Amino acid sequence: MSMKTKSIRRAFTWLESGAVLLVTKNDGTSDNVMTISWQMVMDFTPRIAVSTGSWNESFEAILGTKECCLCIPAFDQIETVIDIGVVHGSECDKFERFGLHKAPAKKV
Ligand SMILES: Cc1cc2nc3c(=O)[nH]c(=O)nc-3n(C[C@H](O)[C@H](O)[C@H](O)COP(=O)(O)O)c2cc1C
Repeated sequence: MSMKTKSIRRAFTWLESGAVLLVTKNDGTSDNVMTISWQMVMDFTPRIAVSTGSWNESFEAILGTKECCLCIPAFDQIETVIDIGVVHGSECDKFERFGLHKAPAKKV
């Protein structure tokens, strides 16, 4: 086996290949969903970090309510997962546009 050398710009992406999540929010008036791949399991309990910021509309809502739900999509949803991650909630109702079924979360 030989060691491969790649530029740091490319090599770091090999660390990014974990599960992609759909993160949903409800701020009391509307639901929204976004795609998150910057996530990290933090513990032997279900403590998970996600990284996002104010460029996303879900951010303020999640900070305000301190609530969100995580959904692990199935592999055959991959194209929808990417589509969800390239539009903002103010542009459309993503649940309607992408034919997503809403169900109450067991844990918020
Ligand atoms: C594959 C993929 C992964 C993404 N991962 C992240 C992420 O980890 N953190 C983040 O802030 N945005 C991520 N995004 C971008 C957001 O999902 C995107 O900006 C989304 O449209 C935000 O929705 P909102 O503005 O309705 O909240 C990702 C997008 C894609 C397509």
